[in-house]
Amino acid sequence: MSTSSGSGYRLFENVRLDARNTFGVAARAPLLVEVSNTTALPELFGYAMLRDAPLLVLGGGSNLLFAGDPQGAVLALTAQQICIVEEDSSHAIVRADAGVIWHDFVLWTLGRGLCGLENLALIPGTVGAAPIQNIGAYGVEVRACIHVVEAFDRQCGGVVRLVAADCAFAYRDSCFKHDPDRYVVTAVEFALSRNAAAILSYAGIGEELAAMGVTQAPRATQVAEAVIRIRRRKLPDPAVLGNAGSFFKNPIVPTAVATSLLQEHPALPVFRATDDGNRKLSAAWLIDQCGFKGHRDGDAGVSSEHALVLVNHGHASGLQLLELARRIAAAVFARFGVPIEPEPRIIGARW
Ligand code: EPU
Repeated sequence: MSTSSGSGYRLFENVRLDARNTFGVAARAPLLVEVSNTTALPELFGYAMLRDAPLLVLGGGSNLLFAGDPQGAVLALTAQQICIVEEDSSHAIVRADAGVIWHDFVLWTLGRGLCGLENLALIPGTVGAAPIQNIGAYGVEVRACIHVVEAFDRQCGGVVRLVAADCAFAYRDSCFKHDPDRYVVTAVEFALSRNAAAILSYAGIGEELAAMGVTQAPRATQVAEAVIRIRRRKLPDPAVLGNAGSFFKNPIVPTAVATSLLQEHPALPVFRATDDGNRKLSAAWLIDQCGFKGHRDGDAGVSSEHALVLVNHGHASGLQLLELARRIAAAVFARFGVPIEPEPRIIGARW
């Protein structure tokens, strides 16, 4: 039941958020605002309770951990439109509202013969959340396809359109992540192609395609199918076992550090980082080596399929999951001297 409503929005007080976060942990919002039409945002942010309070914009709740209740207002954008803004025989600009479910959007684009997002199939969450942490998987980051991010800027009180170059995209990072109280992403425009070559560089994709009987020039839909099969096998389904995907980012260290770690641990997976002076290490491998895969502290645990994924076996609190995460990071640091940091946003506590 809504407590009150206006044109394009509804307000709810004292709302449980358990079903709105994929860890499935208990939390309550003092105020939840469901926005169906983003033209309501200027009016909403005119009210003191929204203008002056900390803000949490909730998408699919798949990249956050409630270690406590959010203190200010929680905003959920529910608009679901997708449209082609412009197109020619080789490209299209597609616009999607922030509330569209990411995987549905990927399937929508593939269904229209557009490629670019196939490696990002089955990532949980919404379109609006995708640019915030620059979602990535299987050799592709979403920034490669982002044309414009449209957002309500609380600082200027109006809508801004940021081209990709202005979003400070980096590995699991963007300007939106750095300034979470400032922007409410309302829609994203993607530049997609009708005939780009598939990106098959990530280990496992080629093997999966071969297992599917696809041996040459795979279509984007086939790459998406391969990604879906790998993800279903490796990553627990949040609908079955509460989780937020990778809980830790892969640490980026100076190349000299990676080289010296490799001398001692030749099996450590090391990947290229965006600049040559650095390397990205596999956090999953480091955690696995510390013996945490499949580990449980009560209902807070680590997936037995993937060491990067923290799971809620039933009734873990957000704080219990956070304590386990801190223990894991401390063990990795003690053993390898490498700090690892959480990927999800942590609400109600500091890392
Ligand atoms: N590994 C282990 N133990 C494990 C799992 C993996 O030692 O339990 C090692 C393996 O050697 C493997 C390597 O770690 O080759 C890398 O594993 P994986 O291919 O699963 O990738 P990842 O680096 O652990 C990243 C993203 C995932 C994304 C996959 C595939 C981050 C933090 N995670 O995981 O993204 O799906 O690559 O591209 O960058 C997410 O962000 O929520 C997420 C799931």
